Amino acid sequence: MSLFYRWWVRCLKVRSFNIAWRHWKARRGYRVGAYHELPSYIRQHAPGGTFADIGCMWGVNGAYSFVAEEAGAAAVKGVDVFGPTPEFEAEHARRQSRVEFILGDVLRAETLARIGTVDTVLCAGVLYHLPDPFALLVALRRICSRTLILRTSTIPEMPGLPQAAIYYPGLPPAARRLWDLRSLGVPRQVGITEAFEPQEGYGNYFWGLTPSCVEALLVTAGFKVEFRAIEAFAHTVICTAVAPAFDHRVPEEAESRAMAAEISRAGIARPA
Ligand SMILES: C[S@@+](CC[C@H](N)C(=O)[O-])C[C@H]1O[C@@H](n2cnc3c(N)ncnc32)[C@H](O)[C@@H]1O
Repeated sequence: MSLFYRWWVRCLKVRSFNIAWRHWKARRGYRVGAYHELPSYIRQHAPGGTFADIGCMWGVNGAYSFVAEEAGAAAVKGVDVFGPTPEFEAEHARRQSRVEFILGDVLRAETLARIGTVDTVLCAGVLYHLPDPFALLVALRRICSRTLILRTSTIPEMPGLPQAAIYYPGLPPAARRLWDLRSLGVPRQVGITEAFEPQEGYGNYFWGLTPSCVEALLVTAGFKVEFRAIEAFAHTVICTAVAPAFDHRVPEEAESRAMAAEISRAGIARPA
């Protein structure tokens, strides 16, 4: 990682510089995003279809699931590995809501089976919290028949290194400090502001993905990026489901033996 890049990241962490960068990008024609714009994307895509909000609970108590329901979604499922919180239950009762909360890990088959397939999937603030972000995107593709609204924490692009990413666990404290976003108002980042904590599980920050890396993962998982809103340390995309979810097919035993024999006969398998 170059000295210039470190300097650039430090500049973007200064609030006044960050605001100036946003104005500069907007003047150059980029759509510059913000967390508070999520409800407007939901209102645009939820009406009339089914909706799932993956990672619906922490700090928001299912608020985006309620936005989708209010916007006219036909059925809404909120999914999380914890909850429901008392705030969610109180709001659910107040609205006489039909939002269904599903407690489960979206990477697990039994959770995917409970969600089924929905028209629109929202997944905000989850991708960088999982050790296997590609598995998350493939899981999202499996449940999404039309539109994915994805927002995630990112790191700035690295000049000359497209699709780069940083794996946080194991970084020494001095290296982690570069990714500490307290100066921009982001509170505790487990795995960055403090060391990786195995008992915190998905609460840790695992990956600092560049936007180009996120978009490449999305395409490989089966999505097409239709809209993007950039930020210095976050990326929001709206995607359509265009290709089947990525899958490596394991052949049946007889087919597999035939393939193995053919590969051996051709002599094309060499130790890598
Ligand atoms: C940073 S919070 C984001 C909350 C909200 N979506 C937002 O944008 O403000 C991440 C949420 O995802 C949940 N989560 C993390 N990993 C998950 C998984 N594998 N399956 C379902 N939910 C998960 C967490 O419990 C937490 O509620």
